[in-house]
Amino acid sequence: MAILVTGGLGYIGSHTVVELLNNGFDVVIVDDLSNSERFILKNIEEITGKKPVFYPFDLKRKELLNQVFEAHQIDGCINFAAYKAVGESQEKPIDYYENNLFSLINILQEFKARDISNFIFSSSCTVYGQADVMPIDENTPLKMPESVYGKTKQMGEEILIDFAKAYQRKISLLRYFNPIGAHPTAKIGELPVGVPYNLVPYVMQTAAGVREKLNIWGNDYPTVDGTAVRDYIYVVDLAKAHVAALKRLMEMEPEKTVIDTYNLGTGKGSSVLEVVKAFERANNVEIPYQICERREGDITIAYANADKAERELNWKSETSLEDALKTTWEWQKYLDSRN
Ligand code: NAD
Ligand code: WQD
Repeated sequence: MAILVTGGLGYIGSHTVVELLNNGFDVVIVDDLSNSERFILKNIEEITGKKPVFYPFDLKRKELLNQVFEAHQIDGCINFAAYKAVGESQEKPIDYYENNLFSLINILQEFKARDISNFIFSSSCTVYGQADVMPIDENTPLKMPESVYGKTKQMGEEILIDFAKAYQRKISLLRYFNPIGAHPTAKIGELPVGVPYNLVPYVMQTAAGVREKLNIWGNDYPTVDGTAVRDYIYVVDLAKAHVAALKRLMEMEPEKTVIDTYNLGTGKGSSVLEVVKAFERANNVEIPYQICERREGDITIAYANADKAERELNWKSETSLEDALKTTWEWQKYLDSRN
C-alpha cells in the first residue's frame, strides 16, 4: 500500500510526507520541481530515516503518471501539486487552469480506471472570498474567488465532488487558511522563489536583510489596528491534519461516496502588524516597514472555525503564532548557511 503525494517536495507537501512516513505509510512522490528543489528529498530522508519513492516529472504527462500506477499499488492520494502564485495567475490564466486542473484530472482518470478511492485535495479558504461572518465554518457560502488561482481551487473542488458522486469514491477537501513556519529541524520549509507574495516569507527575508523593508498593504481596514487579519496556521500542525483526514477516509467502507470538507486554521485571527510584532518578539529582531496602499484583491479578514476538524479528525492546531515564527527564522538561517 502506498500513498501518492503529488507536489510532495513542496512546502506543505514535504511536511506532510514527513508525517506520513512517521506514521508508517509508504509514500510515492511525483513532483516536477517547478517550485521546489531536490535537496528537500534528502532532508526528508534525514528527518525520518526513511526513503520515499520519488518521480521528477510533470503530472500533465499522462503516460508517465500511468507508469507510476502500473509500478505501485496506490491506495490514496494527497494532491498538493499546483501553481499557487495569486498575482502570477492573473498574468498567466491558461497556464494556471492547465496545470492545476489537467494535473488533477489526470490523477482522477487513473483513480477511475483502477477503482481507487481516498483522495485528499489541497484547497484554500480563498474559496470563501470575503465571508460575511467570522469565524468561517464549512457551511459558509462559497464566493467566486477574484483570482484565477482561487478559481482553480474552487473548480478543483467541484470536479472532485462530481468524481466522488459518479464513481462512489471517498474524498476530503482541506481548506487551508494561511500556512506558516518550517520543520523544527529547520531542514525543510518554504522555499522562496523570487520576491515573496506572502507576508511571512517576506518578513523572514526582511529580517535577514534580503529585503530592505516590509510593505504593509493597507492600514485602513476596519480591524483592530487597521491592517488585515488572517488565520496563520503552523505547517506541521497542518501536515498532521492530512494524516488524520487520510486515516478517516481509509477506515470508511469502500465503494461509498464520502465528501469530507474541513477548514484548517487555528480559529484565531492575527493582523499584519500583530504578525510583525510577534516575529520581532519571537526572534529578537527588528522588521522595518512602511504603510502602503491596499493590495488589489485582498480581503479584510478571514479566520477559521476549525471545530469540525477537531470533532471528526480529532485534530486541532497546537502551535502558537510566536512558536511558528521561531521556526521560520531558524529555516532562514539554515538557508543562509547553504549559500
Ligand atoms: P508549493 O509550490 O511549495 O508546492 C507545490 C509543489 O507542486 C511544488 O513542489 C511544485 O514543484 C509541484 N508541482 C506544481 N505543478 C506540478 C505539476 N504539474 N507536476 C508535478 N509537480 C508539480 O506550494 P504549497 O504552499 O506547498 O501548496 C501546496 C498546495 O496547497 C497547493 O495546491 C496550494 O494551492 C495549496 N494551498 C497553499 C496555501 C499556502 O499559503 N501555501 C494555502 C492554501 C492552499
Ligand atoms: C496576508 C496579509 C496582505 C505581503 C494568499 C492567497 C491564498 C493562499 C495564502 C494559496 C494580507 C499582507 C502580505 C506583504 C503585506 N495561497 N501582506 N505585505 O493574501 O491571505 O492569502 O496566500 O492558496 O490563496 O490568497 O496571504 O500572506 O499574501 O497576505 O502587508 O509583503 O499580509 O495584504 O493582508 P493571503 P498573504
